Amino acid sequence: MRRSTNWWFFREHMQLSLISGALQCDCAVCCRRKDEPPLIKGWIPFLGKGLEFGKDAYKFLDKHKRKHGDIFTVQMAGKYMTFVLDPLLYPYIIKHGRQLDFHEFSNKVAPITFGYPPVHSKLHPGLKEQIQRSFKLLQGESLTLLTESMMGNLMLVFRQDHLGHSDWMSGSMYQFCLSVMFEATLLTMFGCVSSARRHGGVRALRDDFVKFDDKFPLLIAQVPICLLRGTRAIRKKLINYFLPDRILKEVSESFTQINNTLSPLSAHHFAMLWASVGNTVPATFWAMYYLLSHPEALQAVRQEIQEVLSLSGVEFSNDTDVKLHREQLDKPTTSSESTINESFRLSSASMNIRVAQEDFSLQLGESRSVAVRKGDIIAMYPQIMHLDPEIYEEPKKFRFDRYVHNGAEKTDFYKDDQKLKYYLMPFGSGSSMCPGRYFAMNEIKQFLSLLLLYFDLQLEDGQSRAELDPSRAGLGILLPSADVRFRYRLRVV
Ligand code: HEM
Ligand SMILES: *[C@@H]1O[C@H](CO)[C@@H](O)[C@H](O)[C@H]1NC(C)=O
Ligand SMILES: *[C@@H]1O[C@H](CO)[C@@H](O)[C@H](O)[C@H]1NC(C)=O
Ligand SMILES: *[C@@H]1O[C@H](CO)[C@@H](O)[C@H](O)[C@H]1NC(C)=O
Repeated sequence: MRRSTNWWFFREHMQLSLISGALQCDCAVCCRRKDEPPLIKGWIPFLGKGLEFGKDAYKFLDKHKRKHGDIFTVQMAGKYMTFVLDPLLYPYIIKHGRQLDFHEFSNKVAPITFGYPPVHSKLHPGLKEQIQRSFKLLQGESLTLLTESMMGNLMLVFRQDHLGHSDWMSGSMYQFCLSVMFEATLLTMFGCVSSARRHGGVRALRDDFVKFDDKFPLLIAQVPICLLRGTRAIRKKLINYFLPDRILKEVSESFTQINNTLSPLSAHHFAMLWASVGNTVPATFWAMYYLLSHPEALQAVRQEIQEVLSLSGVEFSNDTDVKLHREQLDKPTTSSESTINESFRLSSASMNIRVAQEDFSLQLGESRSVAVRKGDIIAMYPQIMHLDPEIYEEPKKFRFDRYVHNGAEKTDFYKDDQKLKYYLMPFGSGSSMCPGRYFAMNEIKQFLSLLLLYFDLQLEDGQSRAELDPSRAGLGILLPSADVRFRYRLRVV
């Protein structure tokens, strides 16, 4: 949906050089050491399979899984990536600390993407520790503050933009989620430009953010920023929003903490902004979309929210602000959490990466092992598991109650008759798990609560189903390939 001409040009151009799949030597057995998985090589040695993978990673991996089994190595953009696709083997990788490192990869890629110095840079001693500490502010005690603040800001944005009319209004769903979540998150995490100018200021920042975000997959793929016309300037502009004397006039409490903990480098604030909305916005979109296209789910979730509120003795009306506290949001045994997890399952396409620190034999259970060379990447790709019909019956179908059973959270999912330790992984795994995951879950619940309490909602007629745009595969929640129109009207309460 948000493709730029640059990217098309780049991709089409490169594809021309690849010419045709027929010329590819698909399974090179030569030069493989004992116990090394089958190797899938590209025609052009350096680019390897990178472009085909970039086009539709799920399709690519699924195809090779059928041909080579659950473990194979792909030569991609000059790297060897060994995919392990059987979720029963995930625990062996996730708990394998010493020889498989995550941070080597992120420490290299994140600074290049967001424009900050390498985390081990001598110029900024202690940077790495500061970043780690800033992640802690998204959890534990601080999460209570963050969650309360988000509630207030979501309410504020709903009032300011959406609660004024009693007629049916019509909107584009992705744009709706983007504008609400972006502004509320910005206010919560960073505070913002002074109120009078807030609206225009937020919109300008958001538009620049979207432009940068369009190029994000390329930057992560380490395409040099100088090849992406205009991107460096936009990134500079974005980073400058976070210069201490600019945007942060009216500073939220959470931000002061982040500012004090994290290095004052504005680029870090910008990276944090990306992390905090880059996945949340599409995740919010899919949850909303699936609810609107499944009225029985919408009804169940709305009823549940109303019960939570009435239990707390709040009489809901259109004049009072809704407040849902952390304890009310924390319960996993609910239809709303199951709904959100089900929409994660259907839309998440993150890749979990580890880098081999030495040549060694990776033990995968009692009878299996694969030889790994230093510098190789080991990758898990949970989307394959999320859409596995053996684990999830009718995997392409949205079932809002997939993760609840008899009023309790459902945690037993099986493959080959064995219970899976990992069956849903939208937030990564082990040492690299998303530090914002609790906050993300809370804010999406808060958003859905306000939406369902205040509005009657309908999809507009005559639209085709929303499809996933695969171009961001590997990076988190996929975007829809086209926006969806919907109607909403204040509920009479
Ligand atoms: C639905 C929403 C979200 C999803 C699906 C998501 C997913 C992810 C994933 C997959 C990773 C990489 C983990 C890995 O490589 O194993 C990650 C990292 C990260 N996320 Fe999230 N995230 C979400 C929301 C948030 C929010 C709201 C924040 C902050 C407020 C946040 C902050 C971060 C940070 C700082 C990292 C980097 C961690 C590191 O480098 O160790 N995320 N997220
Ligand atoms: C953030 O940190 C910078 C550098 O230490 C400081 O100049 C600035 O006043 C701080 N901003 C806030 C709002 O605390
Ligand atoms: C709440 O609803 C009542 C009755 O429909 C209406 O008169 C009032 O203006 C509404 N208040 C707000 C803030 O929309
Ligand atoms: C939803 O998923 C999260 C992690 O992804 C998990 O912690 C939580 O228990 C799940 N809740 C339900 C109801 O499945």
